[in-house]
Amino acid sequence: MIEVVRACSFHLFYLAIWDKNSKTVRRKRVKIDYTTESNGSQQGPYTYFSEPQTVDHYFRATANVGLWTSERAVIESCLSKTDALLELGCGTGRITFGLHKLGYRDITAVDVAPGMIAAALEVNMALETPIRFSVEDATQLSFDNEVFNAAIFGFNGWMQIPYARNREKALEEIRRVLKPHGLFIFTTLDQDITLCPHGTWENEASHWQSRVPSCFDLGDIHIATPDGSHFMHVPTFLEIRKLLKTNSFEVLDTFLRDDRFVESHNVVNFADNLRFWITQKQN
Ligand SMILES: C[S@@+](CC[C@H](N)C(=O)[O-])C[C@H]1O[C@@H](n2cnc3c(N)ncnc32)[C@H](O)[C@@H]1O
Repeated sequence: MIEVVRACSFHLFYLAIWDKNSKTVRRKRVKIDYTTESNGSQQGPYTYFSEPQTVDHYFRATANVGLWTSERAVIESCLSKTDALLELGCGTGRITFGLHKLGYRDITAVDVAPGMIAAALEVNMALETPIRFSVEDATQLSFDNEVFNAAIFGFNGWMQIPYARNREKALEEIRRVLKPHGLFIFTTLDQDITLCPHGTWENEASHWQSRVPSCFDLGDIHIATPDGSHFMHVPTFLEIRKLLKTNSFEVLDTFLRDDRFVESHNVVNFADNLRFWITQKQN
C-alpha cells in the first residue's frame, strides 16, 4: 500500500478524498468560453490533452464528477455486464472507472494522450481494478477484427479528431473491431444547440480557418478553456446521421442530454448540453 501511495503522490490528496467518497475537491469552474480568441496554430492537435493541467482537470473530474446520470442510464439500458467493452478517448478514466463500479468487468480503455493513460494507470493500481488501459489512436487501432461488443467514445472525444477524413477513419476502425451488431455509443455537440459567436457557422468557419490550420471543415472551432485551447468539430445532426449510414451504422436512439436528464451542478459545470448517439453496426 505504501508503494501505491508513493506512486500516486501527485494525486494522493484527490484519491484519498475519492476513496472516502465524502467531500468534493474544489477546482476552478471550467466552462467552455466560445468567445475567447485563441490561436492554436502553434499546437499539434493533441497538445492540449498532453498538458499536465489538462490531465489534472480530467483527473479531478474522474474523482469528483464520475459518471453522469445520462451516461449511466444509457450504459445500463444498452450494455450487459459480460460485454467486452472498448472505451475510446478514456482520458483519466472518468467513464471507465464508472463502468467498473457498475459491475462491468471486461473493459479495455484507450487514449491518444500518454499523460492521460499514465494518470488512469495510477488510479487503476491504487483501486486494484483490472482495467486494460493503453495508448492508442482511434484512427489506427491495434486490436483484432470483431472483438468488442460495444465501443464508447464519451464526452465528444470523437469530434476532437481534426479533419473529416480522420473522424471517418476512426469510425471505420470502430466498425472493424466491433462484433456483428456491436454498439457504438458516443456524444457530440450539435450546431443547433451550440453558441456561434460569429453569427453563422459559415462566418465561424472563415474566422477559424484563417487562424488555425486544423479548423478546416464547416463546424470546426477552437475552444478556449482556463487550461488552454483545443480543437472541436461541431457537427450537424444530418452530418452525423449520413456518416453513420455511409459506414453501415444504424441509429437506435439519439437525444439531447438536457431534454431527458437533469444533471447535477457538478456535471453541468463540467460539460455543456450535448447529443447522445446510440448506434449499431449493420452487417
Ligand atoms: C473530452 S476528453 C474526454 C475524456 C474522458 N472520456 C472524460 O469524459 O472525462 C476527450 C479525450 O479524447 C482523447 N482523444 C482525442 N483524439 C483521440 C484519438 N484520435 N484517439 C484516442 N483518443 C483521442 C483525448 O486525448 C481526450 O482524453
